[in-house]
Parts: sequence; structure tokens; C-alpha cells
Amino acid sequence: MNDPTRASELSANQPRPIGSLVDRFGRIHTSLRVSVTDACNIRCTYCMPEKVLGFLPQDRLLGFDSIVRMVRVLVGAGVRKVRLTGGEPLMRPNLSQLVERLSAICGLEQIALTTNGMLLSDQIDGLVAGGLTHINISLDTLREPAFRQISRRDGLDRVLEGIQAAVESPLHVRINALLLRDINLEDCLPLVAYARKLGVVLRFIEFMPLDANRSWNLTQVVSGAEIRRLVEGQFGALVPQDRADASQPSRDFHFSDGVGGIGFISPVSEPFCSSCNRLRLTADGKFRNCLFGKQEWEVKPLLEPSPGQVGCTDEELLAVVKACVDHKHASHGISDSDFQPPARAMYQIGG
Ligand code: 5AD
Ligand code: SF4
Repeated sequence: MNDPTRASELSANQPRPIGSLVDRFGRIHTSLRVSVTDACNIRCTYCMPEKVLGFLPQDRLLGFDSIVRMVRVLVGAGVRKVRLTGGEPLMRPNLSQLVERLSAICGLEQIALTTNGMLLSDQIDGLVAGGLTHINISLDTLREPAFRQISRRDGLDRVLEGIQAAVESPLHVRINALLLRDINLEDCLPLVAYARKLGVVLRFIEFMPLDANRSWNLTQVVSGAEIRRLVEGQFGALVPQDRADASQPSRDFHFSDGVGGIGFISPVSEPFCSSCNRLRLTADGKFRNCLFGKQEWEVKPLLEPSPGQVGCTDEELLAVVKACVDHKHASHGISDSDFQPPARAMYQIGG
């Protein structure tokens, strides 16, 4: 499970395009994931602890003005896509107002959202009106008891309502599923059948060591290759799609009958670090260059100075992000013998 395409370091004197976010390995960063809250209304075992000591208070969250400014600065440096994440991003009050302000930024091509779907049917009209373009909804099972076991909450019916509302909207919709061997492997084929019936692309994401419980174990990971074999056994050979965008982590396929689509995101069994184009901004205003990174670059004090302190220029903000990009490692090292998961869990980083 090594990365066969590990990014190789550019020589120090090799020129890099001026003004853009290019790292030491030549990877150009065009995608920003912005977490807008660490709060969530469910408690997925692969992400959150059962008891959360407390979510970030309002004053620790980066304000909408700061997020919009940061995105504008980064679009000036080549970012083309923003994905809003959490925690559960729909828990952040007035999220559609943020979407509307982001959609006014010239040069930003995609505004995407990753959600658990619980609050989606209530909010979708505002999000669409605000200019959201893409939505990923998480769904790991169609069985209520398994939903309760995974998320430690009720609410599968609300998620399904949210998916239905999304399918009827003009948004590009995808469903994300995570299979844990001992809990919901049996949901694999029913999920495929459900997504095909809706005509929606379903993507399976491998379980990564980002859970707050530190219970990650390779035995629970169901690899993309294993799922593909299962799916092909039932639905026939999958037809690979050309990769429109080489930095897409997903390997996407058509079904031979042309109904629906399926993709595999396999960060554990087939790392895609060498083509990673993503940066992350946490809900409390820290830049990260990798889900698994150990370092963070703080921008909140620059964007929101305390009374009496002077603010910063756009150039100063960009310099912080460039430092973050400059420190990006070649790969996440999950399969290295000395691998240590990051101190923050998924909900605190942004999925
Ligand atoms: N490994 C892989 N994906 C995860 N997610 C949350 N925790 C993990 C993990 N440990 C995914 C969820 C959801 C998105 C927000 O992040 O499946 O689709
Ligand atoms: Fe909430 Fe998403 Fe984490 Fe599940 S994976 S607990 S929905 S933030």
C-alpha cells in the first residue's frame, strides 16, 4: 500500500509560476476546502467521539467576511473551486448567505458542499438561489438500525428526503458512502441499486485514520478494489471513465447499461497524493496542506485583529498560505511504520 506515484521534489532552482500556489513537488493548488463549523447533528463513529466536550464557540469561528476575503485572495492566486465542509456545514447559521457572497467572486468556478443531508431539504432552495453548484451527500446504509449504529442518532429518513430534494434540484449531486467491514459491508449492493435508481453517481470512500476514537484498523477498511469486485459480480463489468480532471481523487466508472455511475476514492490502498491540488481552511481559521498534516498556519488573528491592532494586507495573507503550501509533504504516509494520525479528528479538520 505504498504510493507508486509519490511526488518527486523539484530542484530548488526550478522556476515556479509566479503568483500561483505551487508546492515543492510541482503540485498546483486550485481547490480550497473551507470548514464552516466543527459542530454536527450526528456522531459517526468513524469521525466523532460519542461525547464531544464542546464545539467551537461562535467567536472562535472565522466570520463570513473573513472567509469571503480569504477566498477572494486565493482565487487571485489560482483557486477555482471551493468546497464548504464541517462538521456539518448546514449547522452554521445563514450558510446560504455565505454561498451567495462566494458566488459573486469573479473567477471562482465551483461552489460545492459536503453534507450529511439531515438539514438539507429545509435549506436547499436557499443554497441553490445563493449559487451553490455541487453537493455531496453522505449515505452509508439504507437500514435504520445500521444508520443508528454508525451515526449514533436517528434520522435516515431525513437524509433520504434531503437526497430526494437534491436530485430534484439543478445541483450536481453525488452520494458518498463509507463501508466498515464489520458494520455495513452488506449495504454495498443495496446502495449501488438505490443510487442507480436515482440516476446519481455513488462514490465509495475508504475509511481513513481520522476518527476521534483512534479505533482505525486496517481490518475494518474495505478497499476500493474489493468493492469493485463485489459490484461487478452483481452489475457486470464497470467501464472506466476518462479522467476529465487528473487531480480528481476518484476513479470513476459507468455501468455497462449506462444507468448511473460509480467511483472509488481509495486514499489508503491507492494514495493519490501526487496529484493532490487541495488546501484546507479550518473553522477556527487555520490553513492545512493535508488532512494528515501536523502543522497549521493561522490566519484568524490577521483577518480579525483585536481592537487596537492593525489589520493585514492581502499580500500578507497570501504569504501565510504560500508558507503552508511550501511545507506540503510528498504524501500522507498512512502506510509508513511510524505513521501517527493528526491531533484533530475529521470533524475538526473538515472532510
Ligand atoms: N475516513 C474517511 N472518510 C471520512 N469521513 C469522515 N470521517 C472519515 C474517515 N475517518 C467522510 C464521511 C463524509 C465526509 C464528510 O467525510 O464519509 O462523506
Ligand atoms: Fe458529522 Fe460528517 Fe463527522 Fe458524520 S462524518 S459525524 S456527518 S461531520
